[in-house]
Amino acid sequence: GKIYNRRFVLREVPYTRLCNTKNILTINGQFPGPTLYVHRGDTLDVDFYNDADHNVTLHWHGVEQPGNPWTDGPEYITQCPVQPGTSFKYTIVLSIEVGTLWWHAHSDWTRATVYGAIIVYPELGSTYPFPKPLDNVPILLGSWWKRDVMEVLQDTLKYGGAPNISDAHTINGQPGDLYPCSKKGTFRLLVEQGKTYLLRIVSAEMNVELFFSIAGHQLTLAGRDGAYVKPFTTDILMIAPGQTMDVLLKADQPHGNYYMAARAYASAVGVEFDNTTTTAIIQYHKPNHVPPLSSSSPLFPSLPDYNDTQLAINFTRRIKSLVSTDHPMHVPLTVDKRMLITISVNTLPCVNNSCEGPRGTRLSASLNNISFVKPSIDILSAYYSSINGVFDSNFPSKPPVKFNYTADTFPTDFLTAKLGTKVKVLDFNSSVEITFQGTNLLAGEHHPIHLHGYSFYVVGLGFGNFDKKKDPLTYNFVDPPKLNTVGVPKNGWATIRFKADNPGVWLMHCHLERHSSWGMDTVFIVKNGGSPLVKVRPRPSYMPRC
Ligand code: C2O
Ligand code: CU
Repeated sequence: GKIYNRRFVLREVPYTRLCNTKNILTINGQFPGPTLYVHRGDTLDVDFYNDADHNVTLHWHGVEQPGNPWTDGPEYITQCPVQPGTSFKYTIVLSIEVGTLWWHAHSDWTRATVYGAIIVYPELGSTYPFPKPLDNVPILLGSWWKRDVMEVLQDTLKYGGAPNISDAHTINGQPGDLYPCSKKGTFRLLVEQGKTYLLRIVSAEMNVELFFSIAGHQLTLAGRDGAYVKPFTTDILMIAPGQTMDVLLKADQPHGNYYMAARAYASAVGVEFDNTTTTAIIQYHKPNHVPPLSSSSPLFPSLPDYNDTQLAINFTRRIKSLVSTDHPMHVPLTVDKRMLITISVNTLPCVNNSCEGPRGTRLSASLNNISFVKPSIDILSAYYSSINGVFDSNFPSKPPVKFNYTADTFPTDFLTAKLGTKVKVLDFNSSVEITFQGTNLLAGEHHPIHLHGYSFYVVGLGFGNFDKKKDPLTYNFVDPPKLNTVGVPKNGWATIRFKADNPGVWLMHCHLERHSSWGMDTVFIVKNGGSPLVKVRPRPSYMPRC
């Protein structure tokens, strides 16, 4: 593979959306940020310079970074933040994934505007497992607030609930026709009749899952999270924050204009959400002729109800690994380390007088009832330099108490989470199985759980309480999808398997930003087995200091 160099400068720039202008953080002044184009096997060196007044780190979502945890990016996990006026070189090793991934800021809520697509073409000399598309089209789904995002975050930490609701969803940074002052900027995709386009869809949304559809057209899902899947056609996609999809769109309809549209899949009952709809326009044209947009309004797709969990999960269940000689599947068939992790929104004692959680508490979120607290220096340096007192190695392998997770009543000691910087240590090359169990504490909800440093196989998922006798009988070891962000069904469970063959310190968290900020995170330390096959890069001398 080749080594490419890119320069990313973090800069605050005014942008106008929804009739309002505000300063936002950008890379190189662009919103959304630049698309990175690479082939599988390439390495990217991104020289990052912070020319803004906010601490920021960057993360390469879905890139496994074998042997290279130092530039994975999450703040206080693998590095200290890159401070204003300083720079840092990110090295991104794209040896495993193919398809669509993305990059985003990984400190506070800066990722709201600091994100972009990574398009990984097949390695040189090989090709797609489907006919070559005419064009690659990044479709980045995002959120927009009229307010400053840092203020929104402060409210979320203080109160939880209502203040974090965005004012618009966006497609390629644009809310689209249905919002005030947005018509002119609406993203337009020109297509030629009979041709096929590869949509590189990324959900950079902050706090909600989305349903996505294109009027009059079928969508063929061909990839997810940087791996190919068995292609299937569908009218509607459900995509959660953090997830990416390769979608083939055949322009096989009569000449005209068609809307693509996305709006919330809001799984929690009684929790407010942004119920607006973002749109872009697919416009048919003849080669070398850009037609003016006709005045007749485009055809609009039908979208499911906001709370259609059954449809969301039915779609998810159809996703299976491609499995071919070029794209083999390596799900571990035996398990060395088994974990059950409950996912809950719960409460913590109030720190001021205006908390809006139940009975004067503030909302928090937890995994196995531990609400994660970020340390003040990064765990990766603390681990490799044996600095004590930064983290505890006792993240539990199962919830502290067993109860009916999806019922309406709970043991009261589970309602309040415990704070801690607890990590789980895994042996090198051990086969790990994790069952995520959604709970109905405060509100049952769909949670997109993302693991850094790995892709994992989703061998099963279902509704209700995980039954450790019956449910494993349904596991798929033939063609389970290989993902980096698994949607755990509302009031349900999902089981993943992976081989812990990438030593380092790796964050795992819910990709709904409010949940992660409330503590729905934990960290895996994968030991270096001393195997000569796996070399962990030594700590670069230029790591930022806290
Ligand atoms: Cu998409 Cu921890 O990140
Ligand atoms: Cu969540």
